[in-house]
Amino acid sequence: MPRWGIIGTGDISDRVVADLLAIGGEISAVWGRSMERSSEFASRHGIPFATADRRALLSRDDVDVVYIATPAVTHTAITLEALDAGKHVLVEKPIATSAADAELLFARAAQADRFLMEAMWMRFNPLHVEVIDRIAAGELGAIRNVRASFGTPFFPRPGKERPEDGGSILRDRGIYPVTLAHWFLGEPRALDARGVVSEEVDLAGHATLEHADGAFAQLAWSGIEFLDLSAAISGERGWVTLDPMFWAGSDARVHAGSAERIFRKPEQVRHLRVGNGYGPMLEAVTVAIESGLREHPWHDAATTISITRTLDRILADVSSESR
Ligand SMILES: NC(=O)c1ccc[n+]([C@@H]2O[C@H](COP(=O)([O-])OP(=O)(O)OC[C@H]3O[C@@H](n4cnc5c(N)ncnc54)[C@H](OP(=O)(O)O)[C@@H]3O)[C@@H](O)[C@H]2O)c1
Repeated sequence: MPRWGIIGTGDISDRVVADLLAIGGEISAVWGRSMERSSEFASRHGIPFATADRRALLSRDDVDVVYIATPAVTHTAITLEALDAGKHVLVEKPIATSAADAELLFARAAQADRFLMEAMWMRFNPLHVEVIDRIAAGELGAIRNVRASFGTPFFPRPGKERPEDGGSILRDRGIYPVTLAHWFLGEPRALDARGVVSEEVDLAGHATLEHADGAFAQLAWSGIEFLDLSAAISGERGWVTLDPMFWAGSDARVHAGSAERIFRKPEQVRHLRVGNGYGPMLEAVTVAIESGLREHPWHDAATTISITRTLDRILADVSSESR
């Protein structure tokens, strides 16, 4: 089993570490910006070593893989530090704040012969795995449309997500609708996006992504209002709806097969969440590292870079339209 080091002591680290311990993960060390928060975090989770010096964590022989959960703008630098120290890396979404940086990170991981993955936990959620598998098996025919939105009026949070923190509602929340659309439609050949930008931070946006033969995605994300938190994937033979919160939910309905199933009684699909929902991703990363993989086939370098490139294109469109 790879032994973990945790970088960052915020809320998300708390939730991921709880799930990591629940799947039997061994955590050797934690780093936080202040010694006080590091020590508190370590004692809360029974982690033997706490530090406020990242080099002290990265130079430890009992750390094989690090989980990085710091603000987006710091991901590239900290991931490079960890790879250069010979560690495998699982880094929170978004992996970086540009496709160029994402490419740099995967190139460095390949050079260092280390595993690297963006922590896109949605891809490992059993509900999404079942939906992806069934769609790949042709249950909905060719996919023609993805619709997804994620809006909650809690952004920016005080003291967080300013430009210097890499603040971007698209990269923070919009990454989920964009990732969902990429699974079924790939990278768009054209897109049209609009949004709300204030003091160089995008606060809300919506986009139409265009694909070959008229297939398209309609996506929206916001930090200043509620937007329906569900999603739907539609094809030539039916559609699937993912209930709120579509990126983390337990329930879907498959409208396919007989007319009865399509129009009146869709099949209910349910996979109840275990713990905080990060366990399946953490298990997959553990198995991948134990198997000597350097990327995970379900969320590999090419997919991650492609999604980041789409985020860059959307953000450029949103920013230019708001001027
Ligand atoms: N997968 C999910 O479900 C999920 C959910 C939420 C967030 N996230 C992702 O997790 C990451 C962290 O988000 P968060 O909301 O937890 O962030 P956060 O609370 O602002 O910060 C997390 C940690 O990073 C530290 N930190 C803050 N600024 C830093 C800097 N400039 N350099 C190094 N460390 C710094 C914080 O230290 P202090 O305690 O000293 O401030 C804290 O330990 C983001 O990439 C976000 O997108 C993922």
